[in-house]
Amino acid sequence: MRLGIVGGGRAAWAFGSGWRQAGLPLAGLSVRPGSRSDLPRRLGAPSFDPRELAQRADLVLLALPDAALESIAPDLAAGEGAALFFHPSGSLSSAVFGSERGFSLHPLRSLAPVGDPVDLAGTLFVFEGPDLTRAAARGVAERLGGVFAEVARDAKVLYHASAVLGSNGVAALLETAADLFARCGLEGAAMRRAIAALAHSAVANWEGSAARFTGPVMRGETALVQRHLDALRAADGDRAELYRRLAIEIAEAVRKQGADSPELTEIIGLLRHRPVS
Ligand SMILES: NC(=O)c1ccc[n+]([C@@H]2O[C@H](COP(=O)([O-])OP(=O)(O)OC[C@H]3O[C@@H](n4cnc5c(N)ncnc54)[C@H](OP(=O)(O)O)[C@@H]3O)[C@@H](O)[C@H]2O)c1
Repeated sequence: MRLGIVGGGRAAWAFGSGWRQAGLPLAGLSVRPGSRSDLPRRLGAPSFDPRELAQRADLVLLALPDAALESIAPDLAAGEGAALFFHPSGSLSSAVFGSERGFSLHPLRSLAPVGDPVDLAGTLFVFEGPDLTRAAARGVAERLGGVFAEVARDAKVLYHASAVLGSNGVAALLETAADLFARCGLEGAAMRRAIAALAHSAVANWEGSAARFTGPVMRGETALVQRHLDALRAADGDRAELYRRLAIEIAEAVRKQGADSPELTEIIGLLRHRPVS
């Protein structure tokens, strides 16, 4: 199956280099005039305008920001050429194509910059689209070594918000932690590596262990949670509020897992500003 790719950024690079690694043919690429993307050279594929590309490919990926996708997709999918079209947007649905020939297939990954090594093995590829496109979408996911899943059209925006929390939300928390560590005199490249290692260990516990969390909420240490809040409120009120919200999430998750205790009830009361009787 000859894949054509419109766009020259991270998603185009991930799909294009994954396709190449799988030994599959690229029909060509299309980057906008004046683009500084060097994807055609990196992938060794010829460049065409989007319409011509659509006539040369069996399947066309539109790897563009949402606004560009909304302006380009309907015309392209209405034209002659490629049997099928898809996009990798997490939030837009296949409705953007206005055609039964288009589907969405979102790789649930934070993708590498153009030129960095790409390994999509094990990535969840989340499909939404017309029934007749499902087999092709599954084929793309499998060829790239991924795992196929589906999401309903009306759940896509919530799905994408969840993905943002699970990726950039995590990165934003690391940024916050780095900033607070710096106020304690701990910063620099070694500290950045240490924070990343800390986060990796927490993610490994969350993924692989029955007890997903460690820390003072998990241990029922009400006094320490209060001291954390006091220290954070003195340093940075917004970060104190972030800590409080996240601690509630931890406490409620621990409770849902069946590990309730009087200490946990006390902590939840403290975090929700409710006096505990
Ligand atoms: N990055 C991720 O981790 C990730 C993960 C999953 C899904 N996705 C999805 O992948 C899609 C593309 O994101 P990306 O991360 O690849 O973005 P990106 O790295 O910023 O690349 C976007 C590409 O689109 C081109 N472009 C922008 N506006 C255009 C327009 N009006 N007409 C033609 N081309 C235009 C840009 O051209 P120039 O090179 O000229 O700037 C660039 O080559 C989005 O739907 C995103 O949700 C991304």
